[in-house]
Amino acid sequence: MSSVRSGNSLQEDSLHGDSLGDWPEQQLRGNRLEGYRYTSEKFFEQEFEQMWTRVWLLLGRESEMPEPGDWQREEVGPESFLMVRQEDGGIKAFYNVCQHRGNRLVVEPKGNARRFVCKYHAWAYTPDGELSYAQDADNFPEGDPCGKIRLEAVRCETFAGFIWINMDPDCVDLKTYLGPIWDDWSRYDLASWKRYMALTTTLPCNWKVVLDNFNESYHVPTVHKPTGTPEERKRMHSGVDTNVANTRFDLSDEGHNRMIMRGGYAGVSLNEDGSIGEPLNTIMGEWGLDPADFVGRGNETREALQKAKRELGPGKGYTHYEKMADEQFTDAFHYTLFPNFAVSLWSDGFHFLRARPHPTDPEQCIFDNWWYASQPEGETAPIRTTAGIVERDFEVEHEVFEAGEKSMGRTIDQDCEIFPLQQAGFRSRGYKGAYLAAQESRVRRYHELIDDYIEGRRP
Ligand code: FES
Ligand SMILES: [Fe+2]
Repeated sequence: MSSVRSGNSLQEDSLHGDSLGDWPEQQLRGNRLEGYRYTSEKFFEQEFEQMWTRVWLLLGRESEMPEPGDWQREEVGPESFLMVRQEDGGIKAFYNVCQHRGNRLVVEPKGNARRFVCKYHAWAYTPDGELSYAQDADNFPEGDPCGKIRLEAVRCETFAGFIWINMDPDCVDLKTYLGPIWDDWSRYDLASWKRYMALTTTLPCNWKVVLDNFNESYHVPTVHKPTGTPEERKRMHSGVDTNVANTRFDLSDEGHNRMIMRGGYAGVSLNEDGSIGEPLNTIMGEWGLDPADFVGRGNETREALQKAKRELGPGKGYTHYEKMADEQFTDAFHYTLFPNFAVSLWSDGFHFLRARPHPTDPEQCIFDNWWYASQPEGETAPIRTTAGIVERDFEVEHEVFEAGEKSMGRTIDQDCEIFPLQQAGFRSRGYKGAYLAAQESRVRRYHELIDDYIEGRRP
């Protein structure tokens, strides 16, 4: 049907020497996206069996299990997994199921264990998955199960400080799966970044409703309409240019997406008298620039800020700046990693958004809204998360709640208000399928990839 080329805008703003590479052109088929994809139990099962069991899934954070024996349990749809730090420093992951008669091995969310002891008949497994004790071990006609039976392992790798698993024993390695994401993200030293916000809620919608939303910015002018004075309304919060004509869209061969919005320039932060407005003037001050020098030269602030961060960053403890491309200093990089992970990545902030399917109900999902920030040595300035400003020594508590019980932060709440309404629309016999804009190509691509998996094709 249509093809989408990387760098389909911003040609005048060609990338610099150490810049991020171009992503390839993709062909889209134009499949009709109908409501059953979000409501049908049959489709939900096909999706799980054919897609979820064959993709790399981000499930944990290395720094949360530093010691041998530290473990964490996480769910994906009907499956439950156990990630365990090993004696040799590596991490292994297993299905959370006892191999005696199928009891869930652990029910708590995390802990430290020398042995995992099943609460049914006390079979005990070592942290590397081997059965080391069974009651009445000499009573088994097939022989003593100890040293013979193991927990069922899944592929497990780490990247950017995160732990990823894949249920498919024949899957490609994580680096191959992530494609160009690997290079883009390696420039930030994300493994050392610390979590400052951790909100998890249930949502009354299919998991794809959430990912579709983060796969397009077409909804931004309506759902996130700026409020305030006419002057303030002209600015988008977070100071990025959301105009589609200035936005760059990329689709990778592996199925991941990237959207880049320019920020750090006064086009979105200009006062009526030509002076530089918030938040840009504060940020410029932090980087040794005087906003007064740029009155009437608003278009020059982005480049000036990039230059200042390049020059001053490493000396101020922002060592990751040495590896970063100029546009990563100022612009908003939005990624969606197939199938269920969306990230807004800033030079010093990582907005983590993930949706996981409900164990049985296609019309519910579990949604995480987290924030990680860089840790420049000696920096004392507080962290600006999407849910407010917090001090650097703040220890975040993971809050888990039901839909609507608590705010997820203003912008995400605005998205979440739409989700159940759209889910209801998908149930209507009056809905004939999506009619997508070119700027919604990432939504189309995602669904076509899900169909590829269901029909037995891999990217
Ligand atoms: S089911 Fe685990 S010991 Fe029996
Ligand atoms: Fe949104």
